[in-house]
Parts: sequence; structure tokens; C-alpha cells
Amino acid sequence: MQLANKTALITGGGTGIGKETAFLFAREGANVIITGRREAKLKEVAEEAKREGLTIDYLVSDVSNEESCKRAVGYAVGKYGRIDILFNNAGVLFAGTTHETDAKTWETIFDTNVKGTFFMSKYAIQNMLENGGGSIVNNSSVGGLNGFPGLAAYTASKGAVTLLTKTMAIEYADKGIKVNAICPGTIETPMVVDEFLGKVEDRTAAEQFLLSLHPIGRFGKPREVAHTVLFLCDDNVGFMTGNMISIDGGWNAR
Ligand SMILES: NC(=O)c1ccc[n+]([C@@H]2O[C@H](COP(=O)([O-])OP(=O)(O)OC[C@H]3O[C@@H](n4cnc5c(N)ncnc54)[C@H](OP(=O)(O)O)[C@@H]3O)[C@@H](O)[C@H]2O)c1
Repeated sequence: MQLANKTALITGGGTGIGKETAFLFAREGANVIITGRREAKLKEVAEEAKREGLTIDYLVSDVSNEESCKRAVGYAVGKYGRIDILFNNAGVLFAGTTHETDAKTWETIFDTNVKGTFFMSKYAIQNMLENGGGSIVNNSSVGGLNGFPGLAAYTASKGAVTLLTKTMAIEYADKGIKVNAICPGTIETPMVVDEFLGKVEDRTAAEQFLLSLHPIGRFGKPREVAHTVLFLCDDNVGFMTGNMISIDGGWNAR
């Protein structure tokens, strides 16, 4: 039980990477609270966990709203006394080149991916400082390290997450709070399978193109990302902070 007696708050835990991480953390003994906007998805996870003999708690919360983030942190602290782990995982992706992206799309992406990470961290850190430490993992992307044509607002938002991660890591390095980011390549989740590939004109061509970016020759599984997040939250991995961890089948090594 790598996370016994730890409390973990996971945003966007109703689907994809967040859901898989919630299950892994619960199996490792953590008190887990997941958030998201769709109650039905969160409830499904809680019920699935119950059938496995696990407890995953949930709260409907929108990361783009500061009050909602404050409430989510307050809920976790009220119920479990403290927050040890924050996984800033909630995110949205809408495609578009720079000249095609409208202001509303840009704002939605930044409000979720950047402001959400900032708001949640702001309130969780206040509790972590009181408790003498914690671990924050931000879900960036390979798009937070490299340009990707056709994902102008998304890559810009993930670039912001990357640098916020580095700054937070330095700000709290001597306070026992480590802050790292993960940079996944293409992972088989609803965001990619339904949202991104579901909206392109030629799905097969798009899949082949994405596959060609991954020397490993396949897409990643949410489980593989979850295990990396667990590694980063391990107290034995205490000297790692301010890092961008690629989980990308070799994409970034090219
Ligand atoms: N899949 C990939 O290839 C890939 C690659 C690199 C990075 N990522 C990052 O991984 C993270 C998780 O994505 P995923 O791939 O697992 O896709 P996903 O299944 O679509 O998960 C995204 C989650 O974020 C939640 N969310 C969106 N907006 C929110 C908001 N305003 N407040 C609270 N929750 C919100 C969604 O739930 P609700 O809609 O119910 O709110 C959903 O559960 C994202 O940050 C994404 O950018 C994914």
C-alpha cells in the first residue's frame, strides 16, 4: 500500500486518465476524491469502485471556477482532514490553427487547463503548507513541450501548465511540496478516441499520422499514465520536483 493514510484529490476523475489514476490510488490505500462537471460519470466511477470493494468519493466541481475549486479543496479537507496529493488532471482539447481559433475556444481551453490548475493548486497548497508538505502532479502534454500544428490554443495552454509547474516547484521546494508535470503522448481516452479523432475528416489518416509520432508503434493506455503519477507521488521519490515527465512512447526522444 504505497499511499496508505494519504488523501488524494483528482480533478477530471470521471473518465480517462483521471479515472484510472483514482482506481490505482484507491487500490494503493489512499482516500480518493474525484471531481468533474458531469455527476453521472463521477457516480459511475464511485459505484464501479464499490463493486471492487474500494471507496472513491466524488464531488461535482468545475475547475474553471475559483469558488468551485475552493469548495473542492474545502470538501476534501473537511472530510479527510488534509490533502496530501493533488492531481490537476482536468482538461479540454479543441482543435484549430491559430487563424481559425476563436476567442471563446481560446478562453474555454485556458479557463480549464491553465486557470483550473492554478485555482486548485492555490487552495490545495494553502492546506499543504499547514501540513508540512504534499505532492502535486499537473497533467501537461507533449503539446506542452513542443508545437503541434492545428492545436494552437491547446499547446499554448499546456505550455503555460509546464512553466507554472516549474515555478510552483521552486516556490515550495523548501516547504516539502513537490510539483511535477506529466507530458503524455497520445493516450486512448475519450478525449482522443471520441473528441479528437471523432471530429477529423479522415480518421484512419489521422490515426496513422499520430501513430507515426510514437516510435513505440502504438498509443498509450491510461493505466500506464496512472502508474507514472503514482511514482511521482511516492514519498521515496522525494528528490524529484519541477520535472516534466514524458509518457509518450518515445515521441519526445526524436
Ligand atoms: N489522452 C491524451 O492523449 C492526452 C495527452 C496529453 C495530455 N492529456 C491530458 O490528460 C488530461 C485528462 O484527459 P483524458 O485524456 O483522460 O480525457 P478525458 O477522458 O476527456 O478527461 C478529461 C476530464 O476532465 C474533466 N473536465 C473537463 N473540463 C472540466 C472542468 N471545467 N472542471 C472539471 N473537470 C473538467 C472531464 O469531465 P467533465 O466533462 O465531466 O467535467 C473529464 O473527466 C487532460 O488534461 C488532457 O489534456 C491527454
